[in-house]
Amino acid sequence: MALSQSGSTRDHWSSRSAFILAAIGSAVGLGNLWRFPAEAGANGGGAFVLFYIGCVVLIGLPILLSETLIGRHGQASAPESVRRVASASRASPHWDILASMGVLAAFLILSFYCVVGGWVLYYIGVFFVDIFNSGISGGAFTDQSAEQIESLFPTMIGSAGWTVGLDALFLGITLYFVARGVSGGIEFVAKWLMPAFFVLLILITVYGAFGGAFNQTLEYLFTFEPEKLTGPIMLAALGQAFFSLSLGVAGMITYGSYVGRNVNLASTSALISGADTAVALIAGLCIFPIVFSAGLSVSAGPGLMFQTLPHAFQEMPFGSVVGLAFFVMVGFAALTSSVALLEVPVAWMIDKFRVVRVFSAIIVGFGALVLGALAALSFNVLSDWHPLDFIPIFEGQGFFDVLDGLTAKFFMPIGAILTALFIGWVADRKLVDIENGLGGALHLTWLALVRFVCPIALAAILVVGLLPEEEPAEAPDAAEQVEAE
Ligand code: TRP
Repeated sequence: MALSQSGSTRDHWSSRSAFILAAIGSAVGLGNLWRFPAEAGANGGGAFVLFYIGCVVLIGLPILLSETLIGRHGQASAPESVRRVASASRASPHWDILASMGVLAAFLILSFYCVVGGWVLYYIGVFFVDIFNSGISGGAFTDQSAEQIESLFPTMIGSAGWTVGLDALFLGITLYFVARGVSGGIEFVAKWLMPAFFVLLILITVYGAFGGAFNQTLEYLFTFEPEKLTGPIMLAALGQAFFSLSLGVAGMITYGSYVGRNVNLASTSALISGADTAVALIAGLCIFPIVFSAGLSVSAGPGLMFQTLPHAFQEMPFGSVVGLAFFVMVGFAALTSSVALLEVPVAWMIDKFRVVRVFSAIIVGFGALVLGALAALSFNVLSDWHPLDFIPIFEGQGFFDVLDGLTAKFFMPIGAILTALFIGWVADRKLVDIENGLGGALHLTWLALVRFVCPIALAAILVVGLLPEEEPAEAPDAAEQVEAE
């Protein structure tokens, strides 16, 4: 355990590799395995994917370094860390708003994240029961019709009992590890589950690569068609980059605050974002060949992983075993992220109210259960409730989609703009130089990205993405008419 600046013995990662694994665990999750393929499919493939990669490199990476830097300097919960950097820079303590918004956003994400985590538990159960009943080489699952398999998902999310119960179960598991603390609980999850995750991911992808449709997938994911890149698609890609890297919601400030002096933040940030992006792309390479070779639809959205994949597992030899392995892997990845999400508000509460960790975890967990239940019920008994109907981009959306859209398309970009302005323009240069671990040309490049590219690009993408939908649709129409005349 390292000593923090103030000399207190705040809990720390036990080693550099523990921090790296935990941070990768935070970044790699449902965002990569469930949200990325669904968003890529819904937004047309190649253009979305390549814009997403651009966002990761030019915006995500510089912001990731900025966030970990704030956390490590501050050695406290996210808002307090920002205040400490501000005071060392003789700036207003009110910059802490960037982190306070983040704490709220992390809490909102946690609420709907655990709902999806619950769906994963459901499928673990389905495959487990199938193997238990009928052995590994095909069972009741394999004997069912494709329609029966596909109807599993709507049946499950149509039930208030299942969705809320599974949400509570997943949240409960998350709470257990967060209550045990940083080096004891969170690190344990990351150290054991992340390596297991990587092994399973590689095995399943190799398996899928032999199943054909691999070339079709490559073409689908990496063909750049610039005309497809509309404002809303750019904002969706940016939101996905931030969601996947856990940025803009104080997550990496919080994890950075448990990092010791001896860690080079720049190289570590590069490693984290590289690993996260690699996993998203591998997940795409793992899921789409299965989808294509089974002749399924790529734009199934949130159902892509839960509906189309089980259907495909059914047609494989030992499908139940592959299915079980797949969903166990997704469950591991989801847990290392939900633990990170819960840690953000829990750390804030411990600092703010000087309460013990377990108490803080229980209070936050209870709040997330209430919001999560509302999100879970938006698929069944509350399906007619559209809380933000008066805002065009949220029109007709249930509470689950509202939580997802509000955080990815609003909280995250705004949090990131404020972070870039704060680190690029306000924070003391010397402090930043010492913390970031960059030298020479790299340092100048990073500074230019944080000062100019990030705020300008973020603001621009936010604006084009939030313009009413009619506009991009009208423009080509008008151009066509002119041509026709
Ligand atoms: N990055 C996580 C994933 O891909 C989800 C996430 C978003 C997150 N924001 C976060 C995790 C903040 C921890 C902290 O699944």
